[in-house]
Amino acid sequence: MDQPNLIDYRLLVDNMTTAILLADRDLNVFYLNSACEALFDVSLLRASGQPVLNLLHMPNDEFNTQDALRNTLSTGQPYTRREATISVNFKDIHVDYTVSALNYDKPYHPLLIIELNPRDRMLKISKEENFIQQHQVARQLIRGVAHEIKNPLAGIRGATQLLARSLNDPEYAEFTDIIISEVDRLRNLADTMLGSRQLPSYQAVNVHEPLERVRSLIANQTKKRVQLIRDYDLSLPDVLADRDQLIQVMLNISVNAVQAMNENKDFFVDEQPQLILRTRIQRLVTINGVIHRSMVRIDIEDNGPGVPEDIIESVFYPLVTGRAKGTGLGLSIAQNIMHQHQGMIECQSVPGKTIFSLYLPWEASHVAK
Ligand SMILES: Nc1ncnc2c1ncn2[C@@H]1O[C@H](COP(=O)(O)OP(=O)(O)O)[C@@H](O)[C@H]1O
Ligand SMILES: [Mg+2]
Repeated sequence: MDQPNLIDYRLLVDNMTTAILLADRDLNVFYLNSACEALFDVSLLRASGQPVLNLLHMPNDEFNTQDALRNTLSTGQPYTRREATISVNFKDIHVDYTVSALNYDKPYHPLLIIELNPRDRMLKISKEENFIQQHQVARQLIRGVAHEIKNPLAGIRGATQLLARSLNDPEYAEFTDIIISEVDRLRNLADTMLGSRQLPSYQAVNVHEPLERVRSLIANQTKKRVQLIRDYDLSLPDVLADRDQLIQVMLNISVNAVQAMNENKDFFVDEQPQLILRTRIQRLVTINGVIHRSMVRIDIEDNGPGVPEDIIESVFYPLVTGRAKGTGLGLSIAQNIMHQHQGMIECQSVPGKTIFSLYLPWEASHVAK
């Protein structure tokens, strides 16, 4: 491969996962890279020229950040702070950061380079990786069990049909019919546990198309009891996906939300049950160690009672259910489909606000063969 002679440094910095912030000698923002935009949830355009201390706003800052920054500017002496708490959109996040000076010995254009590493994100990544591995083991286990259940069922069904024929007595037909219909029920369950056997067929999909499909299915099912709200970013790029599988994922999640709201009517005093379908571009998402610069995000949000606290950590595992008649397979299958698409599902839930977010890559190169 040819070695490029010239590296576009801006591109390089923008592709780094470390958040980089440059400040001028008046301690105003001069530049931030993409990771930094994502960290502070602000665009370069908006942040440019703003005081750096607005971003590095630290509640109860005993350490005088302003003095420390000025000190580095004047002496060139770098410093690092670990586990500093900064506040972004009223939420505390924990970062390690290093401040150093560029051109500090030339009096004209000294710049401060501030490199930030959010600690929370690191924790989240390792948790996710762990989760994905465990999820795959659990999926294999389930598939193995489903196979073992399915094999003898065909034999039982065939033998029962023979038995029914040779008995030729309507009185017994009732019993043989029960055996056959129960066997069929079990076979359907095993099929669900096995998941789709069809290989996904990828095509360019505008996610709003399957979303609208799901919306009308849910609207039909719930009549007007649930208010359906659309909040779409119509400029989203297409994703490469299996359309039918995407519909299954969106439907599994929406049906869960509707069930949670319908089965807990007491929860709604003043409000009406609501299902919000939202689409956005999400910057910098890490899935199984792969960093995606930007992904398509689909939120399915409801204002129901929330995922029961005792299963929130394990909702995506097969057979985990909070409902008496649940199978606990819906979310596990949905997560599996999303993994095949190099995407994932995330869940955050408190009473009154539950969001399942689907992330899908839109670059063709990230999609599995
Ligand atoms: N939007 C939601 N609100 C509250 N609980 C939910 C929601 N989505 C999922 N859950 C919980 O997660 C469980 C697992 O869901 P799922 O895997 O689809 O299995 P099932 O629907 O068969 O129980 C549900 O039983 C329910 O307790
Ligand atoms: Mg379900």
